Amino acid sequence: MPNTEKTKEQIKENPKQSSPLTIEDDYTPVVYDPQYILMVNKLKKYFPIKGGMVSKTVGYVRAVDGITFNLKRGTTMGLVGESGCGKTTAGRTILRLSGGKTGGQVLFNGQEIYDLSHKELRALRTKMQIIFQDPFSSLSPRLPVGEIIGEAVREHELVPKEEFDDYIDQVMDNCGLQPFHKTRYPHEFSGGQRQRICIARALALNPEFVVCDEPVSALDVSIQAQIINLLKDLQEKYKLTYLFISHDLSVVRYLCDRIVVMYLGKVVEIADKKELFENPLHPYTKVLLSAIPVPVYGAKRERLFFHGELPSPLNPPAGCRLHTRCPYATPECASCEQELRDVGGGHMVACGRYEQLQGQ
Ligand SMILES: Nc1ncnc2c1ncn2[C@@H]1O[C@H](COP(=O)(O)OP(=O)(O)OP(=O)(O)O)[C@@H](O)[C@H]1O
Ligand SMILES: [Mg+2]
Repeated sequence: MPNTEKTKEQIKENPKQSSPLTIEDDYTPVVYDPQYILMVNKLKKYFPIKGGMVSKTVGYVRAVDGITFNLKRGTTMGLVGESGCGKTTAGRTILRLSGGKTGGQVLFNGQEIYDLSHKELRALRTKMQIIFQDPFSSLSPRLPVGEIIGEAVREHELVPKEEFDDYIDQVMDNCGLQPFHKTRYPHEFSGGQRQRICIARALALNPEFVVCDEPVSALDVSIQAQIINLLKDLQEKYKLTYLFISHDLSVVRYLCDRIVVMYLGKVVEIADKKELFENPLHPYTKVLLSAIPVPVYGAKRERLFFHGELPSPLNPPAGCRLHTRCPYATPECASCEQELRDVGGGHMVACGRYEQLQGQ
């Protein structure tokens, strides 16, 4: 049985598994396929909401609610969806950075990362890195840059002492930083340079897999392009695999090979980039794509809209989670939850009506 956050107390609280406290963890274990560095199977991450005098769990924020996807070695998977749909939580849960998982599996190179001991996890940490959205708050203001980049290298004894300085110089150079930057502090750099420091810090550990959580959202457009190109170059050079989280579909289109679209904690569509952009099947994906500006003077794309706000992940709608906002929803959409199914060529969609909606 996988190691989950569910405690005996929580299970006792939910004998009938029917209240907002219900946690279901039913999945068929995946068989490891070596072409995938990462296999995510029905992964769930719920945050408990405490209430009452004795601070009892009264509900859960179902931030990630059973997501499934596989990530091929050396490729980039985009993870998109509107704010609050669970992208960051998914990235952090995959890296085992947010406590336990609530359910499902995360296989990294075939190993369930939640089954690893702390010692094993520590050894694996160098292989899995994360780059955050805000480069300033993720850098210690009290350490010089050389120390920030080299701290974990030294900790994990990745290079012999006598080679340490040259190694850090080399990593900095690969990320477009100069050796004299080593003795400076993060506040002395621009936003783009700070993000380069974050990338160098991650890269110094020689990772195989990097979660990039909106790494360019806080930067201005010209700097965004530099950082995206840097990520692309580094991927080629070091055969890295990325999970690239972003709001910006133009960036995702440029950088990613395959794309996962999330809505309210669920995956609604997965397809190769070209297929997704040319033939989106889920109504939610169609709305997201309609927001991308057309790069031709005077050209207009019909902008599609959904009504209403994103419902709360504390109490998500039954059936298809989109049915409260989807103009094409039928009464069945409110009662039947849609599983992701392969509709050919690795294109997966979780909508019961996608065939009727084609061309709309
Ligand atoms: N530590 C936490 N405790 C309780 N709820 C949380 C916690 N972290 C995230 N959430 C909730 O989980 C949901 C998903 O949040 P998450 O940050 O993963 O969204 P996101 O898709 O990354 O959004 P954004 O695009 O704005 O970064 C939100 O409703 C958020 O409020
Ligand atoms: Mg986020």
